[in-house]
Amino acid sequence: MAELTNIEIEKQREYIQKMRLVNEVRKTAPKAFVETYGCAQNENDSERICGMLFDMGYEFCDDVKDADLVIYNTCAVRENAELRVFGNLGALKHLKAKKSSLIIGVCGCMVQQGHIAEQIKKKYKHVDMVFGTHALVRLPQLLWEAMENGRAFDIHSSDGEIFEGITTKREKLPLAKIPIMYGCNNFCTYCIVPYVRGRERSRTMESVLKEVREVAELGYKEVMLLGQNVNSYGKDLDCGTSFAKLLTEVCKVDGIERVRFMTSHPKDISDELIEVMAENDKICKQLHLPVQCGSDRILKKMNRSYTREKYLDIVKKVREKMPDIVLTTDIIVGFPGETNEDFEETMSILREVEYDMIFSFIYSKRKGTPAAEMEDCLSPEEKHKNFERMVEFQNVISKKKNDAYLGKCEKVLVEGPSKNNPEFLSGRTDGGKIVNFQGKDTLVGEIVTVKITEVKTWSLIGEIID
Ligand code: 5AD
Ligand code: SF4
Repeated sequence: MAELTNIEIEKQREYIQKMRLVNEVRKTAPKAFVETYGCAQNENDSERICGMLFDMGYEFCDDVKDADLVIYNTCAVRENAELRVFGNLGALKHLKAKKSSLIIGVCGCMVQQGHIAEQIKKKYKHVDMVFGTHALVRLPQLLWEAMENGRAFDIHSSDGEIFEGITTKREKLPLAKIPIMYGCNNFCTYCIVPYVRGRERSRTMESVLKEVREVAELGYKEVMLLGQNVNSYGKDLDCGTSFAKLLTEVCKVDGIERVRFMTSHPKDISDELIEVMAENDKICKQLHLPVQCGSDRILKKMNRSYTREKYLDIVKKVREKMPDIVLTTDIIVGFPGETNEDFEETMSILREVEYDMIFSFIYSKRKGTPAAEMEDCLSPEEKHKNFERMVEFQNVISKKKNDAYLGKCEKVLVEGPSKNNPEFLSGRTDGGKIVNFQGKDTLVGEIVTVKITEVKTWSLIGEIID
């Protein structure tokens, strides 16, 4: 496999070189507009797409109207993200009519589904390139073929390949996202991810550590280790390694001051991991632990492999070892067959755990998943009503959790100007809470102490004290 992987990378390097030569003779460098939908994994894939484009001589633009190349890196987890992509693709038709040299590409999870790729092929004739998650590395060749032949499609599944050595054009300092594994084996019955991202495959510890050292040398102070279920890292490598062992090694890298990770499936949280988290100061005291729902009946139908009781035991264990841990979760409202009684169980788990924040979604039917065939019992109106009630309820809890920070001093890693008020800087606490405060731009990338003076539902406000 390693050999095959290298051959593919070499082949793509040749296309990168060919594209570069073409682009170098142009008066101005061509501009690429890359838009990302969905999760942090997709954001990292886009960083690799941009890395390859950069190597091919592209510059980047923020307005689609200025672009010579548009790429939508799509998400398939819920229908609304797909509808947005179709809407945007429709709008591009006029742009392409005005600028025939424009190349339009769609990639990512959405087009890894055969029926969507077919739909684009037939109904969106102005789209030049379609490539699935497994074909990301073949972008240089596809781009070349699209320019030569008009259209290029690659959505074949080829599970198991991990390509190393692709240039990554990262977000600004100080946070670097690093994938440690790809795919998922869990087959939660509502979820499309295992079908579009394939089975779990871990990068070797060596490759991950090499990348962590590289980003540390570039000045990144924080790394976020990514995987659909980081807790099963290494199981497929058959060499006795584990996520806890990887974390320990990542923390040893000089220059890296904070380590976060996402996402943890509750069924795979080990005591070893909780110990390592508690003992290691570099590991941020933040845990995203998706519960999805509070009813055992629904958890079983979701194929989540834990009960409410088991989940609550984990939360207890985690809090015993790390009393200040910031806990967040994902919730799905309106899974097929969910009754109002089941929903009340979700409300009661929110009351019991008191998460700092939740990410909540109304169930979205995904073609090809087992849940898509299950009977529904609540009406869309009832689901929306429950959803709104839950969000309001959680807002009160989130604000209460933040109130506890008032007057406290927090170490904040400064990320840049605040999105809502450029007069302010924005950064995160060790627990991942957003803090806005006044300070000089030169502090970006530094860890500063901030005294919290005001508290909102989603963020904290403070003053630098050193
Ligand atoms: N409908 C709604 N939410 C979903 N998620 C995954 N699949 C679906 C779906 N079909 C949510 C889960 C998961 C998060 C990333 O997205 O809560 O944890
Ligand atoms: Fe989807 Fe479940 Fe895998 Fe998460 S663990 S990606 S929800 S199948």
